[in-house]
Amino acid sequence: MSDKSEERIVSGKPKEGDVVLDKSLRPKRLSEYIGQDKVKENVKIAIEATKGRKEALDHVLIYGPPGLGKTTLAHIIAAELGASIRITSGPAIERPGDLAAIISNLREGDILFIDEVHRLPRIVEEVLYPAMEDFALDIVIGKGPGAKSLRLHLPRFTLIGATTRYAMLSPPLRDRFGAIYRLDFYDRQAMEDIVQRSATILNVPTEDAGVKEIACRARGTPRVANRLLRRVRDYAQVKAKGVITKAVAVDALAKLEVDKIGLDQVDHRVLRTIIEKFDGGPVGLETIAASISEEADTIMDVYEPYLLQLGFLERTPRGRVATRLACEHLGLKYRNKQSPQGQLL
Ligand code: ADE
Repeated sequence: MSDKSEERIVSGKPKEGDVVLDKSLRPKRLSEYIGQDKVKENVKIAIEATKGRKEALDHVLIYGPPGLGKTTLAHIIAAELGASIRITSGPAIERPGDLAAIISNLREGDILFIDEVHRLPRIVEEVLYPAMEDFALDIVIGKGPGAKSLRLHLPRFTLIGATTRYAMLSPPLRDRFGAIYRLDFYDRQAMEDIVQRSATILNVPTEDAGVKEIACRARGTPRVANRLLRRVRDYAQVKAKGVITKAVAVDALAKLEVDKIGLDQVDHRVLRTIIEKFDGGPVGLETIAASISEEADTIMDVYEPYLLQLGFLERTPRGRVATRLACEHLGLKYRNKQSPQGQLL
């Protein structure tokens, strides 16, 4: 099954083209970073304290839905510390030797960023524990009874791990992070500020109402906002006079089938399936996925977080339930005889 979320305009997952665009739009310093005020404050304190002590920063874990700026924050932390950053990801490190090669090349104070850290193979994780805790690399030389273990000392580095799935991290790995930051969906004002900032950088003329229209359909996700902005800019250039007005944004987003609150056809299909085929639920994630030919993991990582946040969907022990709010949004009748907890009323 193909991962259709890659094709979706409202997916938080990165797409081709986002990479170049995101880089120029990505804030480089903490002072440019909009929103996530609590996390920003804590990061600021940790950085200042670390610099004062001239030590390496404690290992940091950043988690939250895709597209909220986990990688951006890691780059910013490195920039604020004046440290080099080495980027890799959980699935890219297949064997303990791969990790050993990376960390033995780090220098004092460097940052190692591991994206999708929940996907590190278990045998690799085991090499990471002493590296994180004691800045040591245990290497086994030889095989069988004659095998010898050698301990290599590493420079004090900082691991920044990022994940969309906090619950999938093994407890020993989770415990080795000194700071854990959760990124939440951005609020309306932050989204407007982000769209305005990006439009200014891209030199796109906008009216306030046009910016607001994009911001409120971007699912509280900067990556989505920047993608919508790019599409609306195209539309404005070709069909209007290049200015993003409210009417231009509304027309462009309607053509892209992104509704007033940022839901697209796939969100609609997820909700309609639960409501119409399964009487509002509860219904298992796998069943929903099979009904609409999507991957269960993709529904869970990309689509569900925003539907949960809107209060359109609830997770119960017996499966997913669509709420009254979801029915109202879709203009469907609410027929569920279950309470949100999945018990019969
Ligand atoms: N672009 C993407 N994320 C951003 C953020 N949090 N602040 C400013 N610009 C952004």
